[in-house]
Amino acid sequence: KRWIVGVDLGGTNIVVGLVPIEGGEVMGFRTVPTDAQRGAKAVVDRIVAMVDEAITDVTASHGTTRDAVAGVGIGSPGPLDRKTGTVINTPNLGWRNFPLRDLVANQVKLPCTLDNDANCATYGEWWLGAGRGVSTLVGLTLGTGIGGGIVLNGEIYHGCSDVAGEIGHMTIDSNGRKCKCGNYGCLEQYASGPAIALRAVEGIEAGASTALVEMVDGRLDEITAATVYEATVQGDPYAAEVMKDTAKFLGAGVASIINILNPEMVVIAGGVTRAGDTLFEPLRAEVRRRAFRSAQECCRIVPALLPGTAGVAGAAAVFKRENYGAV
Ligand code: BGC
Ligand code: NA
Ligand code: ZN
Repeated sequence: KRWIVGVDLGGTNIVVGLVPIEGGEVMGFRTVPTDAQRGAKAVVDRIVAMVDEAITDVTASHGTTRDAVAGVGIGSPGPLDRKTGTVINTPNLGWRNFPLRDLVANQVKLPCTLDNDANCATYGEWWLGAGRGVSTLVGLTLGTGIGGGIVLNGEIYHGCSDVAGEIGHMTIDSNGRKCKCGNYGCLEQYASGPAIALRAVEGIEAGASTALVEMVDGRLDEITAATVYEATVQGDPYAAEVMKDTAKFLGAGVASIINILNPEMVVIAGGVTRAGDTLFEPLRAEVRRRAFRSAQECCRIVPALLPGTAGVAGAAAVFKRENYGAV
């Protein structure tokens, strides 16, 4: 049996696991905080240590050796350059022209590939998750940033310089909030985890009354998207309103995607999808209001089937695609 290691590097966590080369379940799954503020080199060391541990675990439990591991697929926030394996500029990690792929490869002594984290998550859902058998698939990942991926006929669509699918930086308000990418009004500034928390806090500061304040003992800077979600579950009307606004912003973005690409499926991943119908119902309603009917009728908008591991599975799939020609 042979495996590929998948690495999903995010703004908040690094997730690593092993995927059997023919597909199947992600094994030796582990996650640790990224701690990006400790610097890029520290992040590389952390990735290398996790890869080594995961390989040791899985090969030991299967009675094989390291030779059973073909290589490592890495997914990272972008924009990046797949050919050189360099992260060009990633606001949420603060990196510039960082040769991530080769730094990891030199230490783990295995061939590595690099692709965008959300491209990987979308490819993972296509390979082993909600998008199996779907030919046109768009994925959105909602986390520290908002990522996107486009899979057309079983291939990730990369565009002419690997930027395709940067859905988080779609302008949804031309005079809107400033984004770390330099643009104004990007979707990411409204519906990412930190953006959800920020909108919640702004409303409280403007006088809204909500259980959120008590939940953080008055320390508003401790409010996260998860707190907002928990308050929604507890029936807090203000938190529900914040979630509904989130769904509307996402709906505007998803409607544009549906009109542009006419995909069969839009799959949405990330922590806030735990909100389930609280998020998906108003999101679908917003899409119904905005997208062409014949486009929305053939498009299912669904939560990811591999929450937490789609990025790992997809990073491994990219490695397989680049080294074996097919997935
Ligand atoms: C980056 C994307 C990335 C996403 C999720 C965005 O800010 O521009 O490349 O996929 O965050 O990490
Ligand atoms: Na992408
Ligand atoms: Zn932006």
